[in-house]
Amino acid sequence: MGIIEPMNLYHSSVEVIGNTPMVELSRLVRELDIDGRILAKLEYLNPGFSKKDRIGRQMIEDAEAGGLLKPGQTVVELTSGNTGTGLAIVCGVKGYHFVAVMSKGNSTERARMMRALGAEVVLVDQLPGSMPGQVSGGDLELVEKEAQRIVEERGAFRADQFHLKGNFRAHYLHTAPEILSQTDGKLDVFCDFVGSGGSFGGCAAAFKEYNPAIHCYLVEPVGAAVLAGKALTQPNHRIQGGGYSKDDLVFIDRDQVDGYLQVSDEEAMQFARLLAQKEGIFAGFSSGANIAGAVQVLKGQEKGKTTVVLINDSGLKYLSTDLWE
Ligand SMILES: Cc1ncc(COP(=O)(O)O)c(C=O)c1O
Repeated sequence: MGIIEPMNLYHSSVEVIGNTPMVELSRLVRELDIDGRILAKLEYLNPGFSKKDRIGRQMIEDAEAGGLLKPGQTVVELTSGNTGTGLAIVCGVKGYHFVAVMSKGNSTERARMMRALGAEVVLVDQLPGSMPGQVSGGDLELVEKEAQRIVEERGAFRADQFHLKGNFRAHYLHTAPEILSQTDGKLDVFCDFVGSGGSFGGCAAAFKEYNPAIHCYLVEPVGAAVLAGKALTQPNHRIQGGGYSKDDLVFIDRDQVDGYLQVSDEEAMQFARLLAQKEGIFAGFSSGANIAGAVQVLKGQEKGKTTVVLINDSGLKYLSTDLWE
């Protein structure tokens, strides 16, 4: 028998959230002939297979600490699936009933997984003309209305990821400090595809505090780059989890945005596939978008630099889509 390293015993899956590994994508960088480094933080290795487990934990623990969430109270949230999965895990472990309100446009794996974790899942029809797999800002408004109705009906606590500071704090207090520790503070660039803006906002704030010279790039879909001030021409893009065409994201401080990048559906898919083939990292559309953003800047203004991206969720969540054929 070899030497056994000391390993931890955890007392619940909630304690396992975070402290995800970081991997240098040297094979992908070589394949693309890029001058620079891409370091990927594997958020899909969280218990719910996405970075959003972190905010599920933070929002619930902040609410408990602030007296906003009482024992036995129902928790409700609007979700594209990942935040709901994180909340289902945290609520399940802590004993709260959780209701996830989700658009029918999101992949079926997500609803099934939340149900498996004990959540009640309410699916909301898309707008006429919207396509499954393409959730628009309009579709999301319908989900929001239904979430508000259920909160009122049940006297529930709304774990509102678009407004509760716990979303920002999860990344400011944990994700970013982990990245600074894993890179020994030696990162130059951070690229992040934005949904609620929690991970971009929380990480950018911590990075700028540590070293204002770290450049933070905000990634949006081509045709839905409203934060970049561009016209909305393609609200029904395919990069699930973000690009909601909302220009009022409270966690994003424009002074901390060093540049706005746009990524097409095809690029997001191409890089998600390349990531799987070259690096053995099986991730979803938005992780492909983050890599596409990193490649853009490393081939341009940030040549030779060290770029960090989050690998947001698992490719397993998209097996029913044509990302994997
Ligand atoms: C797969 C995926 N990617 C990206 C995002 C965007 O992250 P944030 O809400 O922190 O901007 C989300 C958010 O739900 C997501 O589920």
